[in-house]
Amino acid sequence: MAAATGGVPAVTDLFRYPIVQAPMAGGASRPELAAAVCRAGGLGFLAAGHKTPEAMYQEIRVARGLTDRPFGVNLFLPQRPVADAAAVAVYREQLAGESSWYAAPLGDTDTGGGDDGDDGYEGKLAVLTETPVAVVSFTFGCPDAGVLRALARAGTVTVVTVTSVAEARTAEAAGAAAVCVQGVEAGGHRGTHRDDPYADRGSPGLGLLTLLAQVREAVDLPLIAAGGLMRGAQIAAVLAAGAVAAQLGTAFLVCPESGADPLHKRALTDPLFPHTELTRAFTGRPARGLVNRFLREHGPYAPAAYPQVHRMTAGLRRAAARAGDPQGMALWAGQGHRMARTLSAERLVRTLAAELDEARAALLEGPGGSAAAASGTADAAGPPAAPPQKGEPA
Ligand SMILES: Cc1cc2nc3c(=O)[nH]c(=O)nc-3n(C[C@H](O)[C@H](O)[C@H](O)COP(=O)(O)O)c2cc1C
Repeated sequence: MAAATGGVPAVTDLFRYPIVQAPMAGGASRPELAAAVCRAGGLGFLAAGHKTPEAMYQEIRVARGLTDRPFGVNLFLPQRPVADAAAVAVYREQLAGESSWYAAPLGDTDTGGGDDGDDGYEGKLAVLTETPVAVVSFTFGCPDAGVLRALARAGTVTVVTVTSVAEARTAEAAGAAAVCVQGVEAGGHRGTHRDDPYADRGSPGLGLLTLLAQVREAVDLPLIAAGGLMRGAQIAAVLAAGAVAAQLGTAFLVCPESGADPLHKRALTDPLFPHTELTRAFTGRPARGLVNRFLREHGPYAPAAYPQVHRMTAGLRRAAARAGDPQGMALWAGQGHRMARTLSAERLVRTLAAELDEARAALLEGPGGSAAAASGTADAAGPPAAPPQKGEPA
């Protein structure tokens, strides 16, 4: 399943432990974090979202100076415009009070994010084909087959984030080397290929284990599982469900090497913030964060307008952080946030790997340590049923 094609390594050749540090745009994914994860035997990622191609290139250079292990870079797909200009204007009026409170003007929705509207996608691809990295992953869509082929020719493993079976099929048809299966538990933005405010009404998305099982039967690609994973035993569970690796974001967010704001790190385990929710309040695209005042007040009517809302609120969020007020910040977090441990990234990878080993050993031993599987008890119940063929009903 994880076999290499041509000159491209198999995704499983890129790490010692099946632990991927999720790319996290917005400051957390510093080269120091990615390099520390790689040194410990996991797979580290840089996040190129919201950066210029030049800034991405500089981070790659820094990471290369810190580790000679393979690491990945994550790109945002350019977004087809979905924003309703009138709805964006209404939201601007609704945020006027926030602007006065934080003494920060609302950003220009056309240019306020400091990018050229498509997040510098073509420029970043040009850098990554000229100076290849081991892995390039994508979110918010699936690249054209030509892009995936060009990266493969450069020896790069390509990974497309998917949140449904249909998106996984699209990624397979386009020629992705692997998919990152993102469950609804995940922190940060949902990687949905198209933000359709009508499609997700009343049904925010599938939980990781349900989605993983469905994607596994629909496509023949290596799967990386993401969403709510905080312990080695959960990694064992997703490996048992067919994944080749687990991708963790929130768990790495609190590491000292992460560049996340200290207020954000602290809030993850603060009893003041016990819940997460999916919201468009900060960026206009559904993302999971800790429920704070801003999310509670503006989430219910925030429009589907990414990146316009992201640009509009960027200055507010920075001002809230400067004022030391987590109630006005985007506190991205997965559902497992309360289990975050402040360990160095290297120690976290090793701890997760040890927990994974322990969980696997416990599985082999069976309930009550009876060593059921190892002693052949499993055989007494007959051989396992053959998995259904692709396309057959399960
Ligand atoms: C702060 C933060 C920023 C994120 N930024 C990105 C990103 O730039 N690109 C991406 O593909 N995923 C991003 N994600 C999502 C992760 O790739 C991953 O799906 C998620 O962290 C998994 O859930 P967990 O946080 O519960 O581990 C982000 C997640 C967080 C928490």
